Amino acid sequence: MDRREKLEQLRAESLLGGGADRIEGQHKKGKLTARERIDLLLDEGSFQEIGAFVKHRSRDFGMEKQQFLGDGVVTGYGTVHGRVVYVFSQDFTVFGGSLSETHAEKIVKIMDMAVQNGAPVIGLNDSGGARIQEGVVSLGGYADIFYRNVMSSGVVPQLSAIMGPCAGGAVYSPAMTDFILMVEKSSYMFVTGPNVVKTVTHEEVSSEDLGGASVHSSKSGVAHFSCANELEAITYVKTLLSYIPQNCEDLPPSLPYTPGNETREQLKGIVPENPNQPYDIREVIDGVVDAESFFEVHKNFAENIVVGFARLAGRSIGIVANQPAFLAGVLDIHSSTKAARFVRFCDCFNIPLLVFEDVPGFLPGTDQEWNAIITNGAKLLYAFSEATVPRITVITRKAYGGAYDVMNSKHIGADMNFAWPSAEIAVMGAKGAAEIIFKREIQSADDQEAAWKEKEQEYGDIFANPYRAAERGFIDEVIYPEETRGRLIRAFKALENKAVNVPRKKHGNIPL
Ligand code: HXC
Repeated sequence: MDRREKLEQLRAESLLGGGADRIEGQHKKGKLTARERIDLLLDEGSFQEIGAFVKHRSRDFGMEKQQFLGDGVVTGYGTVHGRVVYVFSQDFTVFGGSLSETHAEKIVKIMDMAVQNGAPVIGLNDSGGARIQEGVVSLGGYADIFYRNVMSSGVVPQLSAIMGPCAGGAVYSPAMTDFILMVEKSSYMFVTGPNVVKTVTHEEVSSEDLGGASVHSSKSGVAHFSCANELEAITYVKTLLSYIPQNCEDLPPSLPYTPGNETREQLKGIVPENPNQPYDIREVIDGVVDAESFFEVHKNFAENIVVGFARLAGRSIGIVANQPAFLAGVLDIHSSTKAARFVRFCDCFNIPLLVFEDVPGFLPGTDQEWNAIITNGAKLLYAFSEATVPRITVITRKAYGGAYDVMNSKHIGADMNFAWPSAEIAVMGAKGAAEIIFKREIQSADDQEAAWKEKEQEYGDIFANPYRAAERGFIDEVIYPEETRGRLIRAFKALENKAVNVPRKKHGNIPL
């Protein structure tokens, strides 16, 4: 065999991973192979592999006789919409995609290259976890990856698509990346699987119910996206990338934009006259941002707050919006942590923030207090306060109590704050306020109901509007709904070169 033939033979062998039978097995489960996934993700012909001939070094349990080129992970770089990304894709056909010392080294190599060259890292995860035959060196390999997840955090975007099993300590690498996407019915994530759960707690639960895409995208919030299939997951990865920059020094990509009539009449009638009537804040978002540009993140988790990316005049922005259509848009533990994490992502990667506010306050009750709404609500307050990207708030209706402060108020560093004429900015709703501060007058009145109504009206006249806040400059301008888009485009333009000096410190101490 001549030299060229030798190389051809090795190349062909590495492309086969664990062999034709196991590839067929993967397909029979309705799953794609590691390489097929990469082909779907990257621009055609752009993938450049690194480490195709790597072999494991294990000599126990007869492992030296079982060698597969590439050792269960395909790594390299390529482009998505013309922009460079580094990628690793675990190959379930080789020892169940389990992570050996060398498998970890391959991932570490491309993570280091991604940071040095300022490009995102995308992990396509499909793995049985630590390579059981290798023992502690495999655990060491995981820790090498974890460490780099942390060191890369905030430097380059890290995205994890979970396309198969992800169990044990292995879950902690995706958990430290910026976004997790899971495929419904074929992926799961848990620290301890159903068998251990049964032994320890006598609880019987399936993998899907314990850690499937639906559970993690709605109950735990571990996953940001639940995808119907692998193709959808990969499409979402590409869409996400289109809104975010390559690294923390870079700006997000923008699309061409031709200025035109920015008045949006449809925004006029969305907020109902009755302050207690719900409406869908997504109608407001869609009415303001560029057509069909809103890409919601964490859609099924903590639905009382809506977060996601959009474009305004072609530029990428991050949106955080209270959702009056769900739990009246109240802030609770989950909505606070969901929004805080999103705000921090946007701030890491120079994505300006737009907040739509309609919030009746924090959710009362023992459940919330005992589970630390204090600490968790503080996360959102902290996240907004430390964010130095351009920040704008539009108060559409209620801005009550501490939630007024938390939701990107001027006091905590927002740059421009607008309110619609329907805004109510007060310590609480007029009814509750009247009950407290006019308690005696109401109790001593002949007609208590009428007295209460009168006092409610009196409080409402003073505070159930945006003008007290505007008098103080807490609101920069009261604007009509239909002119919101134009105002925001011009405001973000004016904030484009924002520069903030923060006090020198090692790092802050966000209340975790
Ligand atoms: C070595 C493994 C493996 C592993 C699977 N395989 N997991 N080899 N180490 N961790 C191999 C199998 O032997 C089999 O080889 C092939 O991969 C496919 O596995 P199957 O069991 O046939 O597939 P399936 O029925 O789909 O089940 C997949 C699975 C199961 C649910 C992932 O394989 C499984 O439970 N594996 C063990 C999971 C686990 O306990 N991992 C350690 C977790 S602890 P052949 O040759 O037959 O094709 C951990 C700690 C990380 O990860 C700590 C970080 C800090």
